[in-house]
Amino acid sequence: MKNFEIAVIPGDGIGKEVVPVSLKVLDTVAEIHGGLKFQYREFPWSCEYYLEHGQMMPDDGLDILKNFEAIFLGAVGNPKIVPDHVSLWGLLIKIRREFEQSVNIRPAKYFKGLRSPLVNPNDFDLIVVRENSEGEYSEVGGRIHRGEDEMAIQNAVFTRRGTERAMRYAFELAKQRRGHVTSATKSNGIVHSMPFWDEIFKEVKQDYPQIVTDSCHIDALAAFFVTRPQIFDVIVASNLFGDILTDIGGAIMGSIGIAPAANINLDGKYPSMFEPVHGSAPDIYGKGIANPIGQIWTAKMLLDHFGELELGQKLLDVIEDVTNDGIKTPDIGGKASTREVANEICQRLRKADKLVQR
Ligand code: NAI
Ligand code: MG
Repeated sequence: MKNFEIAVIPGDGIGKEVVPVSLKVLDTVAEIHGGLKFQYREFPWSCEYYLEHGQMMPDDGLDILKNFEAIFLGAVGNPKIVPDHVSLWGLLIKIRREFEQSVNIRPAKYFKGLRSPLVNPNDFDLIVVRENSEGEYSEVGGRIHRGEDEMAIQNAVFTRRGTERAMRYAFELAKQRRGHVTSATKSNGIVHSMPFWDEIFKEVKQDYPQIVTDSCHIDALAAFFVTRPQIFDVIVASNLFGDILTDIGGAIMGSIGIAPAANINLDGKYPSMFEPVHGSAPDIYGKGIANPIGQIWTAKMLLDHFGELELGQKLLDVIEDVTNDGIKTPDIGGKASTREVANEICQRLRKADKLVQR
């Protein structure tokens, strides 16, 4: 029996609605597998916790989390009671930074039964590997001469270590997928960091002769996401480029409510964190209509992370079937509740399992 201990942080708003139903889905997956067990410990760290304790998580919060195999997080933020920068930096960003979650991965695929804003979405299925710790989002720089002569300098920092590890992750991922990696570059305009990025990409790809590669300038790449996303498999990008690309990825799927993300600690020293892209959606919280698919898809990514690729694929197939059959929340044009969607996914997982056993 494989036993995984998972720290669960529902957080705020709809995080408290989509996380519990997603754990039921994970339990169903474990049940049909037979040799898998998830043990959860839930933490109430959130904006409400902040009001009571003056901080988003206790002083030893990270020490506690460190011992788990993964973190399953809903959403953080309730701007009515705590400013966003306080809640985000006090919990989410703290975990990402302190636990060296140096790669952020975000898949985007065409979902049957979902209206993509693209006229011809052509069954795209891609995943962006975003460098998550350095690049354009560095803290190096400053401002001088306040006033009329003021200037600001923001240095981008690219290390061999940070760049190479993101790229290797992308290549390893491509091995499990369709064997194609695209590097997002801009070496025609950015003359130091991007040629360096290209050089390292060239070096790393020598170790993966079976993988097809190409390099694409970020401006053209962004346009291709809209005009022909089906040509991509795995894309590796710097922090800023990846950030922008993944928003386009979410947009072409058709709803922010279904987009998942994973923050990966590559050396396994700390747990990785699985969270949907969306926030706490205060405008719909309490109505029971939040789309649980973003959160449930992160459960699929968690399964992948634990090496359960087949189970992960099965879960994603079932999610897509349910969507295609119209059992959908209002954000994607349906009438179902959060719970109804999740229950349907659980039922179909069990049914699919019975069919296989016969
Ligand atoms: P949001 O993602 O919470 O909501 C944007 C819009 O999308 C809203 O209209 C919402 O109803 C809808 N939406 C989002 N998720 C949905 C779902 N699962 N099903 C159906 N509709 C969904 O972004 P917003 O409103 O800018 O931020 C609200 C709070 O969440 C803020 O405090 C913000 O800081 C926080 N936030 C947290 C994130 C995180 O924890 N990773 C990410 C983004 C925002
Ligand atoms: Mg973004």
